[in-house]
Amino acid sequence: MAHSLPPLPYAYNALEPYISEEIMTLHHTKHHQTYVNALNAAEASYAKASTPKERIALQAALKFNGGGHINHSLFWKNLAPSAAAGKGNGGVLKDGPLKDAILRDFGSLENLQKEFNTTTAGIQGSGWGWLGFNPSTKRLEISTTANQDPLLSLVPIIGVDIWEHAFYLQYKNVKVDYLTAIWNVINFEEAEQRFNEASGNAKL
Ligand SMILES: [Fe+2]
Repeated sequence: MAHSLPPLPYAYNALEPYISEEIMTLHHTKHHQTYVNALNAAEASYAKASTPKERIALQAALKFNGGGHINHSLFWKNLAPSAAAGKGNGGVLKDGPLKDAILRDFGSLENLQKEFNTTTAGIQGSGWGWLGFNPSTKRLEISTTANQDPLLSLVPIIGVDIWEHAFYLQYKNVKVDYLTAIWNVINFEEAEQRFNEASGNAKL
């Protein structure tokens, strides 16, 4: 079954002033659409491939474009119009299981943001910064993946795209300003839903 571009759950200008309409429009309609198209093409070729060698030759395209589709589908949902801009609930971490876990594992939301931004800004080249849930230890961890690799070692709770296409038109080379700004549009309600699913809403 072919994959398709999921609609954004808000308008292209809804994340302003933190992420511009121009970035959101290009990022969604051009970049994500390209991953979807290329994933569909790779899967169609894979279905027709008749030898192991042909199938192995398609692995890189499947991983790159499949990861791109998975990561961006998650990314749109983990953003929301900002409360600080009077547009929605983005950036607001309410009392609840996710906040309890963040306080337990990082001490404060500010500590989490600082560690997340430092780790994510340190990615060499393109990649993703993640807040993930470790099912073995039942704790939250910060992680990164390169290129479009999806997060497999942890259950993703929040993912931030640190490809230049995600910020360059607005923030130029200043990655850290993009990372600081994006916390104003993080959808913590979506993050908490993922956390509850991942943790089985286990008692902390
Ligand atoms: Fe992206």
